[in-house]
Order: sequence, then structure tokens, then C-alpha cells
Amino acid sequence: MECLHLDNMTKESNIKLYPLKNFYIVTDIKKHKVIKKKLLEYFSLMPDNKHGKISKTDWKLLDSQKKYKDYFLKKIRPYYDKLSKKIGFKKWGWKIHSIWFQIYNNKTNDTHGWHNHQGCNWSNVYFIHLPNNSLKTQLFDKVKNKPIKNIKVKEGQLLTFPANMMHRSPVNNTNDKKIIISFNSDILIETDKE
Ligand SMILES: [Fe+2]
Repeated sequence: MECLHLDNMTKESNIKLYPLKNFYIVTDIKKHKVIKKKLLEYFSLMPDNKHGKISKTDWKLLDSQKKYKDYFLKKIRPYYDKLSKKIGFKKWGWKIHSIWFQIYNNKTNDTHGWHNHQGCNWSNVYFIHLPNNSLKTQLFDKVKNKPIKNIKVKEGQLLTFPANMMHRSPVNNTNDKKIIISFNSDILIETDKE
């Protein structure tokens, strides 16, 4: 049975948070400049759909309208195979649930506030255009109750982090755009059956 309860009130209780070591993954994508050029061509042909404080995104479009999807998945597949194997156990595999792009225009206060992704193990961000480090994704450390602003990622890299983690894209008041592809994934890990 599905249960969704949203409550802005934080009630003090006997629930305690204990720190747990976890990790995020950064993957270098080779031939980024070639992939970038191709993806930007695809995006330029997409409708100018705004969502929230994001100037252009295909978040609400059907998968069949996302013409870049097959191209991107083909490029990302070998890296995701390696990534899954690296964090896997005896058996590994992966699947992608949804994919979308976001363009945060310059000098527009474009931003994406704190949120997390549901129905998946991992969130992913491929940084297609990131001229300014201040626009990197920030994660939220719930134990310390403060943002993690120094994620070690740059343009041309894929950031993969646990999907339950709150994260945001800082306000873009810089002179340049930020362009990313985001997607949700499950990395499937099976333990030994013995
Ligand atoms: Fe997100």
C-alpha cells in the first residue's frame, strides 16, 4: 500500500540520526566535447519549456519526445557498466528509470531548490556545461545539518549519488549558463546465493 505523508512540522522525538559512511561517484566521460556539441544541438531543437525556476527543461515531456535519449544512453552505457561492476558484489546490473535535461540561464536567478528523487537507488547528473564552479550540485548532510558545497566534480563528468540525499542547484547569477542531464537509476546488486 502506498503511503505518502508530507509534513512541514518537525516534531522532536526519540528518533536519532547516526552518521554512516557513504559515497558519491564521479566518472570522467571521454570525448566530452563531441558529446556536448551533439547534445546541445538536440536541446536547441526542443521546445522552450520552463519549469519552476529552470529556464528550459524537458522534465514534463514524454520519453518519445526526448530524441537525445538513445544517443546519450549509448555513450553512457560502457561507463555505467564499469561503475556498476565497481560497486557491485558478485552480480551487478543497472537500469535507468527517467532522464531529463535542464538549462539554467545566466543572470536569471535560475535555481532548483532542495529536493530528492523517489523510486530509485541513485541520482545522476552529467555536467554538460559548467563554466563556474559555484554552480555545482550541492548535497545536504542531514547529520551535520548543512550543505556540502565542495563536491569534487567538473564539466565533462558524471556525478552519481544516493537518491535519498537532498540536493540543489545554486542560484545562477553568473554570466554563463549551466546545462546538465539528470537521470534516475537503480544499480542492482545481488549477493552470493550460497
Ligand atoms: Fe535532482
